Amino acid sequence: MQDIVSVTGITKTYASGFQALNGIDLAIHSGEIFALLGPNGAGKTTLISIVCGIVNASSGKVVVDGHDIVRDFRAARSIIGLVPQELTTDAFETVWNTVSFSRGLFGRAPNPAHIEKVLKALSLWDKKDNKIMTLSGGMKRRLMIAKALSHEPKVLFLDEPTAGVDVTLRRDMWQLVRELRDTGVTVILTTHYIEEAEEMADRVGVINKGELVLVENKAELMRKLGRKELTLQLAAPLAQVPDKLQPYALTLSADGNDLTYTYDAQSGRAGIATLLKDLGDLGIPFKDLHTTQSSLEDIFVGLLKEGA
Ligand SMILES: Nc1ncnc2c1ncn2[C@@H]1O[C@H](COP(=O)(O)OP(=O)(O)OP(=O)(O)O)[C@@H](O)[C@H]1O
Ligand SMILES: [Mg+2]
Repeated sequence: MQDIVSVTGITKTYASGFQALNGIDLAIHSGEIFALLGPNGAGKTTLISIVCGIVNASSGKVVVDGHDIVRDFRAARSIIGLVPQELTTDAFETVWNTVSFSRGLFGRAPNPAHIEKVLKALSLWDKKDNKIMTLSGGMKRRLMIAKALSHEPKVLFLDEPTAGVDVTLRRDMWQLVRELRDTGVTVILTTHYIEEAEEMADRVGVINKGELVLVENKAELMRKLGRKELTLQLAAPLAQVPDKLQPYALTLSADGNDLTYTYDAQSGRAGIATLLKDLGDLGIPFKDLHTTQSSLEDIFVGLLKEGA
């Protein structure tokens, strides 16, 4: 797969002396949805701002679709759409004018049909003549996305795109992002909603304290690090886990009714068959059983704990 964004050895030390990024290497594949996860202050916005040419890196190099973002800033920037984390809009302008104007800033010829399509996709069409100050917070955020799409970018950066957006609209936005990807747009997003990454991302990067601690295909990540739990609902409560079952490291619920077995979803021999046989031999019947798979959130929290 071709890389559309390549980040090499990027560091950033702010004027305060604070080092926000510490040697980031990252290649974004053309046409993928890449989710950048990390706690507050990890350096996500700093990294995106550098790629978009808003913040200067202290060292390192960024190339966007063949254009060096410093030497060839205009060409690189025209390929990029950015939805910043902080909302900045002109309160007195109308929705339509703001989005149309934004397209003009990139030197693109007017294209009302495109603007109409974007506004409709973001459920802003009926607000097109409204002044921005009359929009709700969630509408303003959608307006920022419309602005970023106004010049038909090849690469779209979404810094916390759905913060403050309600659940239904969030789902609509996910759909929109997938549709954009399907038309060939590369999407890089940051989010604190792990569910968002789990739903959308093709690959996931985790950044912590200015370092990229992991970059992985999402499905692979969940397969590798995912754990499964098997919970058995017992026919009668147990006072304690019988000695013979010690090797399984089971946990017994406080009321003695549920036995839980945690195993590696990857390993072919999960040991479930022998566990069930041992339970049968001990005369411990169960009423029901179910399994759960760990979520990306579990994996993420685990990773950050490891790195702490
Ligand atoms: N202009 C600045 N001057 C000095 N320090 C800054 C500046 N901007 C950001 N920082 C610091 O750099 C670090 C990374 O900030 P950044 O905004 O990139 O984090 P983030 O991962 O986007 O966090 P969040 O999830 O809260 O948006 C933080 O410690 C922040 O305080
Ligand atoms: Mg941020």
